Amino acid sequence: MLPYGRQSIHTSDIDAVIDVLKGDWLTTGPAIKTFEDALCNTTHAKYSVACSSGTAALHLSMMAANIGPGDNVIVPANTFLATANVVRLMGAEVIFADVDPDSGLMLAQHAEEAVARTEARTIKAIIPVYFAGQCSYPAHLRELADTHDSLVIADACHALGTVYEVEKMAHCVGSNAHSDLTTFSFHPVKTITTGEGGAITTEDPDLEKRLRLLCNHGIIRDPEEFQHHTLAHASDGSINPWYYELSQPGLNYRISDLHCALGASQLSRLPDIVRHRRALVSHYRSRLNQTGPLIRPLTAAENCDAAWHLQVVAIDFKTAGITRLHLMSYLKENGIGSQVHYIPVPWQPYYKKRYGTAHLPGAESYYNSCLSLPLFESMTMGDVDRIVDILTDFIN
Ligand SMILES: Cc1ncc(COP(=O)(O)O)c(C=O)c1O
Repeated sequence: MLPYGRQSIHTSDIDAVIDVLKGDWLTTGPAIKTFEDALCNTTHAKYSVACSSGTAALHLSMMAANIGPGDNVIVPANTFLATANVVRLMGAEVIFADVDPDSGLMLAQHAEEAVARTEARTIKAIIPVYFAGQCSYPAHLRELADTHDSLVIADACHALGTVYEVEKMAHCVGSNAHSDLTTFSFHPVKTITTGEGGAITTEDPDLEKRLRLLCNHGIIRDPEEFQHHTLAHASDGSINPWYYELSQPGLNYRISDLHCALGASQLSRLPDIVRHRRALVSHYRSRLNQTGPLIRPLTAAENCDAAWHLQVVAIDFKTAGITRLHLMSYLKENGIGSQVHYIPVPWQPYYKKRYGTAHLPGAESYYNSCLSLPLFESMTMGDVDRIVDILTDFIN
């Protein structure tokens, strides 16, 4: 069975985790900093804060950015639930933006339409989702955010390793050249995995400090920042060694050393992993482009060299006279997993009840035709051939 995505664990990954198991630190130990430093090297970010999931990374970003009641945050309709849910968890309002039907990406024009729909026209943050590993003109979204004095919090949970170009300059996703914060997920279907895990990168030392604080309950241990001096100090003026203070309630969103050892080991292979994923996608695309008008690969974003997370195809089910359910069942019978990324989030009963029926034709059209086919590190070009042959057999 070829699932739509899965992890690849090498012997070196297992050895790295075993080393941590044999050591002194299962959590809050040195493997965390090693992983964070490696993430900074990979993304060219100044700071990175590793945490327990991509959802935690988004939630921490909301908290660090002080997003709360009365704020509006723009979120594309085509994303995983977590991108919108963290906004609501902070008590802020989600303004859903439409997406390009051919790439599933929110473009600046969609974000602009969403801004125009908000009553007060004030936007605290825009969350572009780098869907499937692609980003489309991050500089345009940055300009829009600047005109509204908004933050850009990139949800790059699909896009570790993606590079894009602006005015002939190459930028790594996560370097925050056009964002304030960038979030990543290391769930097993992602480009690299830590089991469960996530991270945030930023260039802003204040944001980094707040992220670290909130990731660990909001606990302050730096004596310079203590406020309650009689509790903090012993009679001889020294600091009581057990003492800590709370600045603001946070959460336990810490990642463990076990997860980080796996992550650092996987990250050391990222260039090879990304090269192989790109080769698989390129083979998919050349095969799919010969299958006729009923099946199209996702439109490639201009000026973006994606580290592909998903291999999505758009299928004209109506003209083909088949349903997505029949196709998925047929693929499954033939040992091929597939998935739908995503049901538009504003269609979820919770969001429909809160915001009413959304008119987002791009997201609707994208959803009606999309299907994610297998894409993971241990796949071969022969696997791609078999998948495309079985797919085209059924459709034609
Ligand atoms: C776009 C996007 N954002 C956020 C998340 C949440 O990441 P995690 O599953 O690590 O919490 C995911 C997970 O699939 C995702 O695809």
